[in-house]
Amino acid sequence: MALFRSKKQAGEAELDNSRLPKHIGIIMDGNGRWAKKRGLPRTAGHAAGAETFRTIAYHCRDLGIPYLTVYAFSTENWKRPAEEVSAIMDLLRKYLLEALEKMQRDGFRIRFLGDITALPEELRELCMETLSVGNRVDAKYQINVCLNYGGRDEILRAARAWASDVAEGCARAEELNEESFSRYLDSRDIPDPDLIIRPSGELRLSNFLPWQSAYSEFYFTDILWPDFDGAALDQAIADYQKRNRRFGGI
Ligand code: IPE
Ligand code: IPE
Ligand code: MG
Repeated sequence: MALFRSKKQAGEAELDNSRLPKHIGIIMDGNGRWAKKRGLPRTAGHAAGAETFRTIAYHCRDLGIPYLTVYAFSTENWKRPAEEVSAIMDLLRKYLLEALEKMQRDGFRIRFLGDITALPEELRELCMETLSVGNRVDAKYQINVCLNYGGRDEILRAARAWASDVAEGCARAEELNEESFSRYLDSRDIPDPDLIIRPSGELRLSNFLPWQSAYSEFYFTDILWPDFDGAALDQAIADYQKRNRRFGGI
């Protein structure tokens, strides 16, 4: 029995462990359509999507991928009905509380990309606590949760912070370059994503990491996020491993 289980099933992706992406970004999309297909409220789709997030986070850790960035709530998602926004905020609270408990034990830390100052107070405080616990954890794996995140907003906030440093004499315009500007972004100290995955069939970035994805590889699939699983992730990574990344060279 054990012999059969350890054998690769047909259709399973073969991965080259020496060429794994260091950083995967995922646009967790398709929750609403997943729920609609089942005649369920959209919030049920978000609950199912949050479970998928947990599965994929542990799968990345088990593969040995040090950085995972997930798009959880965009600066544009405030346009949704108040009940849906509040259901998403409740789910985020639930999963952050769980993460707070398990970070140390399971060897990961959580960081946030996006403007968390605009979040409901209770969630904002939970984010701050998660960050401070994360800073004390000796973790090999980092999960970056994009919360109230928009790439254009991130770049504008960085530009504002840089301009204010220039005004105060702490930075000089002549010294601005890609590397020094990157230090003003929410993603400072995080390597650029090697692979960006968007499920649900949409072929766009929707304001996800526009600066950082300049040389990322993209993988699109029709699978809706709540149906995404470890095998789907392996498939995306196997596809990534076939790419020839030239970064402008030959
Ligand atoms: C992604 O799923 C979750 C968030 C944007 C918060 P959607 O809610 O966008 O699902 P679809 O795209 O409507 O199916
Ligand atoms: C992107 O999905 C945002 C998140 C997954 C959090 P959306 O569903 O908001 O994107 P659009 O509206 O289809 O571009
Ligand atoms: Mg969507």
